[in-house]
Amino acid sequence: MTATLNQLTPNKHARILSVGAFRPSNLVTNDDLVEAIDSSDEWIRQRTGIITRQRADAETSVLDMAEGAAREALANAGIEASQLGAVIVSTVTFPFATPSAAAALSGRIGASPAPAFDISAACAGYCYGVAQADALVRSGMAEYVLVVGVEKLSDFIDSTERTISFLLGDGAGAVVIGKSEVPGISPSVWGSEGEKWDTISMTNSLLDLRTLALAAEANPGEKAIAAEGTEKLWPTLRQDGPSVFRWAVWEMAKVAKKALDDAGITSDDLAAFLPHQANMRIIDEMVKQLKIPETVVVARDIAESGNTSAASIPLAMHRVLKENPELSGKLALQIGFGAGLVFGAQVVVLP
Ligand SMILES: CC(C)(COP(=O)(O)OP(=O)(O)OC[C@H]1O[C@@H](n2cnc3c(N)ncnc32)[C@H](O)[C@@H]1OP(=O)(O)O)[C@@H](O)C(=O)NCCC(=O)NCCS
Repeated sequence: MTATLNQLTPNKHARILSVGAFRPSNLVTNDDLVEAIDSSDEWIRQRTGIITRQRADAETSVLDMAEGAAREALANAGIEASQLGAVIVSTVTFPFATPSAAAALSGRIGASPAPAFDISAACAGYCYGVAQADALVRSGMAEYVLVVGVEKLSDFIDSTERTISFLLGDGAGAVVIGKSEVPGISPSVWGSEGEKWDTISMTNSLLDLRTLALAAEANPGEKAIAAEGTEKLWPTLRQDGPSVFRWAVWEMAKVAKKALDDAGITSDDLAAFLPHQANMRIIDEMVKQLKIPETVVVARDIAESGNTSAASIPLAMHRVLKENPELSGKLALQIGFGAGLVFGAQVVVLP
């Protein structure tokens, strides 16, 4: 007879135990950026709601920011890094495809030998991480999971590019997720729309690099040109703004509504709404479509932080709780969406 395999003892529920943040200190105003893109402070404020964004200096890396946010989240959870059962880092701006940012972070904070891996899901990366952490804790695979959303988008900006560069900021937010007596994270609504893959993207320079390399091989005299070209081929972000805007307003409101339905609540039950900080007009439109009551605190961190992609929701949560500590233990709807296109949403009990 075949032996019966051991199984893990599942935990019934999971919740966010704590949140931490790292905000870089350089404040970049609209006036600092407008000349290169033929824009104005007024245009950016009206169309996006952004007044400033925080950006990291050359010495501050993705890992430095991730570590800052992670250490605060661990301290607030009252646990040691050695107790972590997994380290998840959501980012699209760690400059190495391998090894992962999560493995490096795990080493820095003393979480080894916890499993560590990165998630590439852009502005939905944090919600993807929460979905994974929730499943890992409830399945019994981990007692505590660290989820970090971190970006140094300023490394991937072409300052003369006017579709996205002026929106972007840097930063990191982190949460510790652990088991709970009562449900603390609703079923995640997450997905992708790969047909829209090129709507927001980093310019793919690999093809051009190969062309240049082949040209240089065929004619050694062209090597200098190849080297010069290579320098210019560092990938930078761009997007079809109006398409993303429409998708965010119409399709993401449906995803948010499904997250509420799957959680078994209505917007009247919420204490806070933590949408991805992409554009103040998108936030306002979602509030309208979801009929979010005026009593609900709506995160508007974008005004001072810009769009920080994977870091935007945990940074927004950190600010909302700092300004409204009485919301601790109450319900918040969070939704992330972006390049892929991908999306993720869940209702959570605030730490
Ligand atoms: C990028 C975004 C702010 C642009 O705003 P918009 O209202 O859609 O602007 P449009 O691209 O339709 O352009 C409207 C006008 O402003 C101009 N314009 C575009 N970008 C500009 C800029 N940066 N500064 C000044 N003018 C600009 C256009 O030339 C156009 O002028 P015209 O009417 O004379 O032709 C907006 O589309 C957006 O926020 N999209 C979603 C972004 C997002 O969330 N991205 C990340 C995903 S997570």
